[in-house]
Amino acid sequence: DLGCLDGDLTLHEGDLTDLGNILALIQTIQPDEIYNLAGLTHVKVSFDTPASTFDINTKGTLNILEAVRILDIKDRVKIYQASSSEMFGSSPAPQNEETPFHPCSPYGVSKLAAYWLAKTYRDSYGIFAANGILFNHESPYRGRDFVTQKIAQAAADFKSGRTAPLRLGNLDARRDWGHARDYVRGMWLMVQHDMPDDFVLATGQSYSVRQCAEAAFTHVALSLEWEGEGEQEIARDARSGRVVIEVDPALYRPSEVNALLGDPSKAKTILKWEADIEFPALIAEMVEEAKRS
Ligand code: GDD
Repeated sequence: DLGCLDGDLTLHEGDLTDLGNILALIQTIQPDEIYNLAGLTHVKVSFDTPASTFDINTKGTLNILEAVRILDIKDRVKIYQASSSEMFGSSPAPQNEETPFHPCSPYGVSKLAAYWLAKTYRDSYGIFAANGILFNHESPYRGRDFVTQKIAQAAADFKSGRTAPLRLGNLDARRDWGHARDYVRGMWLMVQHDMPDDFVLATGQSYSVRQCAEAAFTHVALSLEWEGEGEQEIARDARSGRVVIEVDPALYRPSEVNALLGDPSKAKTILKWEADIEFPALIAEMVEEAKRS
């Protein structure tokens, strides 16, 4: 849905996995800045489709870098590469630019390979390729397969009479959730910086999936009472006693990233970037939008 975009926007169709196509597009468009946000972005889905995950996330990035190298336009174009906090995987929190990478999914590995390609083209050919290592960034535009939107939508639905429990996977996973609006500003700042570099963007606060559900349901005046453990854990609406959340083991991942918490000090010092929007306000905005949808 591109309804969120206004002003001068020209859409060109293309296929990131096709180098010839990307070469032709870049030659036609003559961009000053390229933001590579394309990708297969759902971590669980990447376990089912690892090869296409690599085609899009890794080869797609390589094709952009190759196009800039082959067209010899490195002095005219800057590239932003959407790297991910999933690259940290099981490395202990908090994570920053110096933290060793230990990805736990085909998605994380594909993003890490793309990250290294961007660095390698920067060091080998002097191409301006900046890696933004972004922790989870959400907004009302988030797809419903991602946990914040799934929870926000369910909270809104319960407000208007839903009765079927919301089914979730791992309630204990912790994420550093920020607002996409803040993060897009950070992406732009990385590209305006005089040197290509790698930056973590994060809020520095983390919450569990369980806490995310509590925040969303509290926003619609439902108070959750948790019972049981593991696959048997449920949440009831304290007032009616009705079960509103259940665990569905089918939503567990073959391997899980348990705790992501970013340290954005470098971006704060060098780019003067900070996340303005805090998690409770983010979830409240998502629930409000979900009520309208
Ligand atoms: N999607 C989903 N659905 N996740 C669930 C569910 C559920 O029903 N129940 C629990 N979770 C847990 C997941 O296991 C994970 O630990 C956490 O909620 C967040 O899952 P997602 O919202 O799917 O996001 P993600 O953290 O895996 O990945 C997102 O953030 C990355 C940056 O760290 C994506 O946007 C990635 O593309 C991005 O790189």
